[in-house]
Amino acid sequence: MFLRNMWYVAAFSTDVQPGKCFGRRFLNEPVVLFRTASGRISALMDRCSHRAMPLSEGHVDGEIIRCPYHGVEFATTGTCARIPGQDRIPAAANVRSYPVHEKDGFIWIWMGDSELADPGQILDNPEHRDPAWSWRPYTMHVKADWQLLVDNILDLTHIVYIHANTIGGSPQTHFDANVSIAFDGNKVTLLRKMPDSVPPRTYIAAGGFKGKVDRWQQVEYEPRHGNILRVNAGACDAGTGAYEGRRDNGFVLLNVHGVTPETETTTHYIWTICTNAPRETGVPELLFDQFYETICEDERALEAQQRRLSDTPDLGFVGIASDGAVNRARILVNNLKKAEAETAVA
Ligand code: FES
Ligand SMILES: [Fe+2]
Repeated sequence: MFLRNMWYVAAFSTDVQPGKCFGRRFLNEPVVLFRTASGRISALMDRCSHRAMPLSEGHVDGEIIRCPYHGVEFATTGTCARIPGQDRIPAAANVRSYPVHEKDGFIWIWMGDSELADPGQILDNPEHRDPAWSWRPYTMHVKADWQLLVDNILDLTHIVYIHANTIGGSPQTHFDANVSIAFDGNKVTLLRKMPDSVPPRTYIAAGGFKGKVDRWQQVEYEPRHGNILRVNAGACDAGTGAYEGRRDNGFVLLNVHGVTPETETTTHYIWTICTNAPRETGVPELLFDQFYETICEDERALEAQQRRLSDTPDLGFVGIASDGAVNRARILVNNLKKAEAETAVA
């Protein structure tokens, strides 16, 4: 079951240029995203009301999208604007539209009850608009249940194993990490501190560290404000106050992971990697390349998990100590599902 009353990342703003459209399935529903000549973004059900032709195979012309089959036209609201050869336009010819909102380089979509969609609730990603930060966008189609992606990001003990060839580093550093989890019913925050540790090579290149560092990894998940996870990782010179919030003398690597279900077993993974490491050093580009490899390692693991889950649908999971944040996120999501089911019944 999906959470419908939630903001999801549908695409990057740059994916949908003026005059262009493309189809993408969300929560099992086919959607066409398009941008009009004036720059307005729209999301409609990707099904012409006449004979079910995908509108995403049609054309955007000025402020409308035209079905490629018999030329019926729709406005950004889904209202049928023109039927060739007749004046009367029945209300049944309109197609469903979905609330969309652009913010910080993402196009957000709301697949649930339109009355409940409040764009003011969408989380900020200020690094995407701050000139001191560099970032790169990625879109992956992962053949796995969306909740496996959330689990993956909230249990970073996998770094030692899945990412042994990329960002893994010394296993002991990770096992000695000081881990805390905060959960207030709406938001899960996982914080791992690795004080006074030897920095990985990439960190030395990015931060210019001469000695040991205080490292951190913090994951925040607050699905009421959009189904993304923000992972803030970085390091400062040891003992200079990184854990008290003084992080000017280090560098930060931020991943924003948009996790958007396509079907029960496939997910649009729309993510960015951002850093405040100085651009002129060339370090951001190196970090970005390395991180892409890292996320490909996650993708392979997630798809392997999904294959086994599909082979063994009657078997559940067994909990272990590192599941703390994952379990809280699952409780949070289950509570949201229950609340949504109750609203639907009411
Ligand atoms: S199917 Fe779209 S106009 Fe006929
Ligand atoms: Fe990972």
